[in-house]
Amino acid sequence: MMMPDGISDEGMDGMTRRTVLTAGAAAAATLTTPSAAAEPAARPAAAPARMPVRLKVNGREQGLSLDPRTTLLDALREHLHLTGTKKGCDHGQCGACTVMVEGRRINSCLTLAVMHDGESVTTIEGIGTPGDLHPMQKAFIAHDGYQCGYCTPGQICSAVAMLKEIEQGVPSHVTADLMEVEFSDAEIRERMSGNICRCAAYPNIVAAIRDVAGRRA
Ligand code: FES
Ligand code: FES
Repeated sequence: MMMPDGISDEGMDGMTRRTVLTAGAAAAATLTTPSAAAEPAARPAAAPARMPVRLKVNGREQGLSLDPRTTLLDALREHLHLTGTKKGCDHGQCGACTVMVEGRRINSCLTLAVMHDGESVTTIEGIGTPGDLHPMQKAFIAHDGYQCGYCTPGQICSAVAMLKEIEQGVPSHVTADLMEVEFSDAEIRERMSGNICRCAAYPNIVAAIRDVAGRRA
């Protein structure tokens, strides 16, 4: 049979044009397509390793089995369902996740839960309860130290720990006399500078902290 391009469909050696084209296409496919045998077998997704972690949270022993990459913040919120501690930036920039570990304030988004195995953690739920508010919580209410309230648990945890730091004589960047740490608005503002309030309730927050510190003195 004569093809449209003028080439006979029957070759000199008896092979048809169709046979040649089919064989060529098959050869090309062999060269360009990796065979099933050569393809790397898909690996089954490995289950993340888990580690046992013991935490004493708000005075209660808690045993967890966690992916070692779990932050303390996620352990508290997602595993222990203590959602009072907030996730703002998750990058150590806002202070919304502040809790106390062994009495010291810490950004819980910046630390892994496994690093605190055996340690005690205090969250806002452990500072006071609706029926028995901590003086700092009462002062925040009295001084209107919040608007949306998202930063407030972190502000209160930070403020409670911060007053202890001053009591213990831990200096800050603005402390003039390192031998005698004095309480002042400048000290409050400096020491609370890691706790961002997007509602800008700062004057009221400072007033609340000053109030609590005054009551203590
Ligand atoms: Fe931890 Fe912002 S959520 S510092
Ligand atoms: Fe809204 Fe502080 S009260 S972010």
